[in-house]
Amino acid sequence: MSVSFPEKDRKLVEEMIRHYPHKKSAIGDVLYLAQKHFGYITPEVELYVASLLDLPASYVHQVVTFYSMYLKKPVGKYLIMLCDNVSCLLCGAEDLLGRIKEKLGIEVGETTQEGKFTLWTVECLGACEQAPVMMINDKLYGNLTPDKLDRLLDSLE
Ligand code: FES
Repeated sequence: MSVSFPEKDRKLVEEMIRHYPHKKSAIGDVLYLAQKHFGYITPEVELYVASLLDLPASYVHQVVTFYSMYLKKPVGKYLIMLCDNVSCLLCGAEDLLGRIKEKLGIEVGETTQEGKFTLWTVECLGACEQAPVMMINDKLYGNLTPDKLDRLLDSLE
């Protein structure tokens, strides 16, 4: 196995495991740490996480493929996740999507050539009261308007 955490992250994994009654319950935290460290979750990373938690690799794979927050391939520096579920659609998400595509010159699922932006659409982000909503990396942006969107994208370096 060629992937592994550095010593400080291995200690973090041990701490994460101690927070739960069962070792396997730390899987979400450990996968999130793995994603931060390796950038995305490859089959090799799944195997490594499985070995850390004494789990079958198939179990880890199921978790990784079930949750969209786990990245399976490289993405741009900024991962834009625009909600295209009902509340956000009713509040203008479709127009925002068109604006992003036009501004960045990419379609959903694509990354800009220089690797700066990746665009995804996602199901409800759980912030319908702020619709339309998107996340860029770990940060949520709500009550979006086309102008607000433009300013936001322009401000990212
Ligand atoms: S429908 Fe968009 S956040 Fe819920």
